[in-house]
Amino acid sequence: MKQKLLLLATLSTFALGSAALGDLAILDDSLGLSPVSVFDVPAPEAFEYLDTDPKVAGVLPRAWEDLPPQIPHRAERYLPINARVNKCLECHDEPDKIGKKVSGKPTPMSEAHYVRDGRELTLANNKYVCTLCHAPQTEAAVLVGNTFQGAR
Ligand code: HEC
Ligand code: HEC
Repeated sequence: MKQKLLLLATLSTFALGSAALGDLAILDDSLGLSPVSVFDVPAPEAFEYLDTDPKVAGVLPRAWEDLPPQIPHRAERYLPINARVNKCLECHDEPDKIGKKVSGKPTPMSEAHYVRDGRELTLANNKYVCTLCHAPQTEAAVLVGNTFQGAR
């Protein structure tokens, strides 16, 4: 008798278990962030980076203090950065003008981008690849909505 009860209990747990699983089944277009079925090949809309001339780009708002500012102007023609060429430096490497921003002129990189040896400032190697931290902009729609608001 005891054994029969145990069997019944086990069977009903299985039955309930699978019913509950059935309700929780995830549809194949709800897996991951892509809004299409996992069996389709998604084709997101192509986007282009802004082609704004640096002289008229101005600057973009910063979401919080000490955030690497977003690149407000075109960047594609200044990339890629490699061991021999870094076009960003041609405009932004002005250690004598640090902290002196003039609208329409390249903002000098801050002292945090340099290593100081006495009076001499040398570009820090870990700041050489600007796009590790500074991102070019597009007007592409966000893939996943969010309610983020800057801290300032
Ligand atoms: C032809 C000169 C030029 C080149 C090359 C250039 N920039 Fe700029 N950059 C500017 C100018 C001009 C501004 C706008 C400054 C203003 O109006 O206050 C600017 C602004 C910026 C800003 C915003 C600064 C702030 O205060 O918010 C960042 C970040 C930046 N550039 C990064 C880059 C990076 C990274 C590259 C290389 C991919 C690059 N720039 C190449 C001229 C240049
Ligand atoms: C490791 C991350 C990192 C890298 C790499 C980096 N930066 Fe920055 N950058 C920052 C941060 C963080 C700030 C904001 C704080 C500050 O001004 O130091 C900043 C600020 C700036 C500013 C604004 C300065 C100001 O006074 O408002 C400019 C312009 C800039 N960076 C240009 C560049 C360029 C050009 C390169 C490549 C040669 C570069 N950065 C590489 C992190 C980085």
